[in-house]
Amino acid sequence: MPNITRRSFLHRFAVVAGTSYPAMVAMGMIPKAIAQPFRLEGNGKGTKVIIIGGGLSGLTAAYELNKLGYDCTILEARNRPGGRVWTVRGGTEETETGGSKQTCSFDKGQYLNAGAARIPHHHEISLHYCRELGVPLEIFNNVNENAFLYAEGKGPLSNRPIRIKAVNHDMRGYMCEFVQKAIDQDALDLPFSQEDQEKFIEFLRVEGGLNNDMRYTESDRRGYKTSPGAGDLPGEYAKPYGFMEMLKSGFMDPAMSNLPVYTLDLQMTLFQPVGGMDRIPFALAEKVKNNIAYQTVVQQIKKTEDGATVIYTDKDGITKEISGAYAICTLPLPVLANVKNNFSSNIQRACDFVDYKKACKVGLQFKRRFWEEDDAIYGGISRTSQDITQIMYPNYDYLGKKGVVKGLYNFSEKAVATGELSPEARTEMALTQGKQLHPQYEKEFENAFSLAWHKIPRSMGAWAEYNSDTRARFYPDLTKADGNVYLAGEHTSYHTAWMAGAFESARRTVASIHARVTEGQAQYQSK
Ligand code: ALA
Repeated sequence: MPNITRRSFLHRFAVVAGTSYPAMVAMGMIPKAIAQPFRLEGNGKGTKVIIIGGGLSGLTAAYELNKLGYDCTILEARNRPGGRVWTVRGGTEETETGGSKQTCSFDKGQYLNAGAARIPHHHEISLHYCRELGVPLEIFNNVNENAFLYAEGKGPLSNRPIRIKAVNHDMRGYMCEFVQKAIDQDALDLPFSQEDQEKFIEFLRVEGGLNNDMRYTESDRRGYKTSPGAGDLPGEYAKPYGFMEMLKSGFMDPAMSNLPVYTLDLQMTLFQPVGGMDRIPFALAEKVKNNIAYQTVVQQIKKTEDGATVIYTDKDGITKEISGAYAICTLPLPVLANVKNNFSSNIQRACDFVDYKKACKVGLQFKRRFWEEDDAIYGGISRTSQDITQIMYPNYDYLGKKGVVKGLYNFSEKAVATGELSPEARTEMALTQGKQLHPQYEKEFENAFSLAWHKIPRSMGAWAEYNSDTRARFYPDLTKADGNVYLAGEHTSYHTAWMAGAFESARRTVASIHARVTEGQAQYQSK
């Protein structure tokens, strides 16, 4: 067998599969724990790489390629870095497709994370870049038992805000009581010894907060009707809701139940950067500031025999051309669909067939933090069956004076309908529905900023949403090199909808390009 170097193996692997990253990890050339810095050996020796899009994946690719001695140019159509990692503040302007222009008038210090808003504790790669770039984090409170559930128009508990903890503990209590009853009546065929059975029943008693008769009645877990205090104030427990009341009111429906908490990516602990999620792309942009050209709109991407050529208009509207040995295209697929290119036919088809999630958000600035002062809600999320779907409370500046509440965050058909409305009508909708949970809305509202991601021109969608068919038909080609052109971005990962997907795709692409470029630099001789 010929003596094949690891590098030339990787080169062949990179060209054939377009992915040497997993192979490099397997060969110990890239540290396995992705939280560690990304270290590749060899030098890009000034190889020119054109990066289309200065979102998270494009910025990260340039940052890592710079470290390896490449010469990168990022072409970014907006006048800011970050793409969908976008923090809206006073002065932010945006015009959606269809023409509705908004200028944000939040006070200084107030903000809305319009896109990415939370970092799960197990997204090590996102935490790694915050660490490496010195971006301070604070807790994003994703789960607040004291926030509300609101069921509109159905069941005995409908049309009033209900504390999440009451429903959670009442349901848990009843469920434990039901299981205990079933065991008691030998209705469950459990492969338990007598001793195991006793242990399990003890668990049910504690888990459900059952009384000595194994019945769910009341406890402090779900809150008090009158709070305990000093002297002769023992406090009075609030009475549990009835099981059927909760069921009929829709609190067990998937959209309202605890499902979000069971989703791995939404389990506490989650984080957010202090001062807005865009602190991450701005920190990256600072590192690659000599490589970014803002307000450059790509018109055409041509893969060539030995590289790629990109035609774009610069900030003065002048058409220009740039060529490089490689190009990394990070445009979301619905945006790429409208850019002339000579990519493989399957990539072109993917632009039309891979779905992108529709999502809307409305930020509402209030002059008083009534959710904290009146309702003891500090961060977290209230969930409602109304079209606004969620009310997300700010996780910054607790006990402050003003605050921006995300008064609507909805998806799919609800987002399509919301997106059709004018910004004023969206605000009206968020206020009208939200005041059913918080009557204080009426008095305390100051101003709003809304967005429909599918109508934001440089994004045209919130995130890629594969089904099993599009994942099988298109994803493999989207993650393969097309000549010397690579695609990167959350849509080229299994972590769609998360910054981690963008970071991972950037590293993967950098590793693949680097394996090809350094082929022949012979540091990786096999033994
Ligand atoms: N990552 C998106 C969110 O946190 C889906 O809402």
